[in-house]
Amino acid sequence: MTTRPTALITGITGQDGLYLAELLLSKGYEVFGLIRGQNNPKREYVERTIPGLKLVTGDITDLSSVMRAFHTAQPTEVYNLGAISFVAYSWENAHLTSQVTGLGVLNMLEATRLYAGNDVGKVRFYQASSSEMFGKVHEVPQRETTLLWPRSPYGVAKVYGHYMTINYRESYGMHASSGILFNHESPRRGPEFVTRKVTQAVTRIKLGLQEKLSLGNLDAKRDWGFAGDYVEAMWRMLQTDEADDYVISTGETHSIRELLDIAFARVDIADWEQYVYIDPQFFRPAEVDLLIGDPAKAKEKLGWSPTVSFTDLVHMMVDSDLAEQRTLAGL
Ligand code: NAP
Ligand code: GDD
Repeated sequence: MTTRPTALITGITGQDGLYLAELLLSKGYEVFGLIRGQNNPKREYVERTIPGLKLVTGDITDLSSVMRAFHTAQPTEVYNLGAISFVAYSWENAHLTSQVTGLGVLNMLEATRLYAGNDVGKVRFYQASSSEMFGKVHEVPQRETTLLWPRSPYGVAKVYGHYMTINYRESYGMHASSGILFNHESPRRGPEFVTRKVTQAVTRIKLGLQEKLSLGNLDAKRDWGFAGDYVEAMWRMLQTDEADDYVISTGETHSIRELLDIAFARVDIADWEQYVYIDPQFFRPAEVDLLIGDPAKAKEKLGWSPTVSFTDLVHMMVDSDLAEQRTLAGL
């Protein structure tokens, strides 16, 4: 008798949690999402957007709540996406970021180990590691073997979670993998991140609802892909015979200026400089200047490749925000 694959996803209210839940439901999984807080404001949106998803209450900083979620869900696969994920916020909340984004991983690994008991093959584990761990990069492009040199409390916490995942794999023989994911975006991206901040502002400027857009460092470069592609890579990592770590990226890098070029051009505005202001509050105490990943290992071992180009990604986000802003403004 085959048992139905069952996933427990933390970070279910976030961008990746939503795409991953949709993907796994489409593959016939039973899917549980861990949701925190006594009255999470995103609960209603998540329930409406992902019918068939089951929510369990818990917080990754609270091991007993996580254990209860395991007991309810009885997962065969665990995806730990829950984190404080906004790099700028992590300097102002460094201790909290360490607890959630760092120690939260330890709680999830420990819960997985305790739940599996003597049968380590009972459950597979995915950790959402990050290209932010490369920070002040020591190699171009960045690979699985590149030295980690984080440049933010968030990056430091992710390095802790990354090595703890490797440690549990090596110590207990757990099927625990880390995806070192480079930036990935979508119409569901939080508005605090630069891509969505730009696409929302561009469409509001186009519709006459906003006059200017304030930004920080326009010279930073990122390897941006589409979130829908990246959750497919997470799933593929857990279908392998042996757990491992993988860089997931497009292999291309673009500056914030290029992002502005493409986003404004999509709404037929050529001279974006007149709308964009540099505001020092958006500069970071330490910047990650350049990220570009080499996804060769994921291509070879997982058969994974990105399907959405940078231009198409920006167009997708601008088009979605234009429709949303029109609706909100009653236009
Ligand atoms: P996101 O949209 O910011 O979502 C973060 C999720 O974590 C939210 O569901 C949030 O829940 C949850 N969370 C926060 N604190 C929690 C806690 N104490 N207990 C349980 N859940 C908690 O992030 P994302 O873009 O989907 O990214 C998913 C994961 O991948 C994160 O770990 C992120 O650091 C990592 N990552 C993202 C990227 C990227 O470019 N998107 C790249 C590399 C790695 P609430 O809604 O309740 O706050
Ligand atoms: N958010 C933001 N807002 N970023 C700005 C702004 C602004 O007004 N102006 C310039 N930037 C620059 C930042 O300084 C950074 O160099 C770049 O835009 C990207 O910033 P974010 O979109 O906030 O993303 P991030 O690269 O710091 O972090 C994201 O990617 C990581 C993977 O590399 C997050 O999703 C992290 O959770 C993820 O791990």
